[in-house]
Amino acid sequence: MYSQKVMDHFMNPRNMGSLAQPDGVGRVGNAKCGDIMQVELSIQDDVITDAKFKTFGCGAAIATSSMATELVKGKTIQEALQVTNRAVMEALDGLPPVKVHCSLLAEEALHAALWDYAQKNGLEIEGLEAPVEDIGDHH
Ligand code: FES
Repeated sequence: MYSQKVMDHFMNPRNMGSLAQPDGVGRVGNAKCGDIMQVELSIQDDVITDAKFKTFGCGAAIATSSMATELVKGKTIQEALQVTNRAVMEALDGLPPVKVHCSLLAEEALHAALWDYAQKNGLEIEGLEAPVEDIGDHH
């Protein structure tokens, strides 16, 4: 049911944990399944220099947050906005249809962390919308 890449990122998640001094923190949940994800970012000169996550959720949510944090490291903020849930799913060689919503948690948590960074620094990030706490209402 799951690709080898999904299993790998589920069994050996990359970037799990938290940062000593994150520049942006995003936390979102999905009330429908009760899962919660937190993403922390270090950002220097518009570039994401480090990313960590904590996911209290299903295996697909863990695999997508692992892959999403891998994909955004080293990217500019604008490039990171292109790391959509579809991009993350492609990088994982797909997810079963019933698990697609789990990948939205990673995208939303990433956006929420970027939003937090922008708020703290008085910046506006083009194309970034205010995050929602519960993506179950949103999608
Ligand atoms: Fe909730 Fe996967 S079932 S994120």
